[in-house]
Amino acid sequence: MVSLDDLEALRKIDEHGMLDFYMRWPEAIREALEMAEALDIPDELRTGEITIRYGRPELLAVAGMGGSIIGGDILSDVLWDELDVPIQVCRGYGLPAWVGPGALVVVVSYSGNTEETLVAFYEALRRGCMVIAITSGGYLAKLCTRTGVPLLSVPGGRATRMSFPYLFFPLLVFLERFELARGLRQRAERTAELLSSMAKELGPERPVEENEAKKLALELVGTVPLVYGFKWLRSVAYRLKTQFNENSKIPSFSNWFPAMNHHEIVGWEAGEAFLKVFSALLLRSRGEPPEIRRRIELTKEMALDKASKILEIWAKGSSKLEEAISALYIGDMVSIYLALTRGVDPYRTKSIEALKAGMAELRVAERVEKAVGELI
Ligand code: F6R
Repeated sequence: MVSLDDLEALRKIDEHGMLDFYMRWPEAIREALEMAEALDIPDELRTGEITIRYGRPELLAVAGMGGSIIGGDILSDVLWDELDVPIQVCRGYGLPAWVGPGALVVVVSYSGNTEETLVAFYEALRRGCMVIAITSGGYLAKLCTRTGVPLLSVPGGRATRMSFPYLFFPLLVFLERFELARGLRQRAERTAELLSSMAKELGPERPVEENEAKKLALELVGTVPLVYGFKWLRSVAYRLKTQFNENSKIPSFSNWFPAMNHHEIVGWEAGEAFLKVFSALLLRSRGEPPEIRRRIELTKEMALDKASKILEIWAKGSSKLEEAISALYIGDMVSIYLALTRGVDPYRTKSIEALKAGMAELRVAERVEKAVGELI
């Protein structure tokens, strides 16, 4: 195992500078907020036969895949008891049938080349939805230029998942700009401040004994992390599962309270020998409702005690937004340290690239480009 305090060794393995970029997340958040405020969104867009009128939407749909769309889930969880319109997260080819002209559809693909997301873009345009795209380039940028759809152009050249600040924080600004929510910009700025102090506490220079993320990574070595969240930390648990997959290159799964008490808990009857391979990583909040706290404590005693260990990440901050993003930030850092201590480059995701290359022969992106051309 690589020592997590050997900075030279860490930098060598982390050749794309993931750790360093995480130290710059607070700046990236501020930059993303400014970019989203400055984006020119017209009152009306006429393109070919299509007319789109941008006004207060009846619902927000966020379309994308993988690291590009997780922000949609987190947004929906964090604002669950605050918004008076639904947030629909759309993964896969296209959009649900009931997404129509009253919907604001934010299409997010960091590369701009994800075929499922391109189909969703086409569908949103065809149905006359209020479309906005977030991308660093690719087909999606090209299609926006061609159609006039507002495009938030984010800095490219990184992995999607590390570019989370650019893909998530603009959604908060759009909610305010479309008069669906208030005070989000302020909460986002406080989140950036919180992350500035966390970056110092979790960064590579901080030695293991004083560094929560390094400590947790070392605890997780050799186990399959099962990550549990609840309410505003629900999708953060899923995010961490995907980060253990993509950064650490290990299997990992997630679930949430109270849902896991209605099915997964029974799987924990399987017996200790069987369950030892798992570690349980619980996302906790000082503001968790009493019924959730009770469920977590009972589940630890009755089920999770059979895991090789039970670990916890306590969210920081005073708003749900700060709590969600702080837990995500710690967890992301844990997944990177876990990769590095195993001598694994956290950046590369060979299997995703190979799968996408295998799909390319169906030429979905090219077909979407042609179909959009026929629409306008
Ligand atoms: C890569 C990653 C993946 C991609 C997904 C969609 O860092 O996290 O989950 O996000 O394959 O690709 P994009 O984000 O380019 O639309």
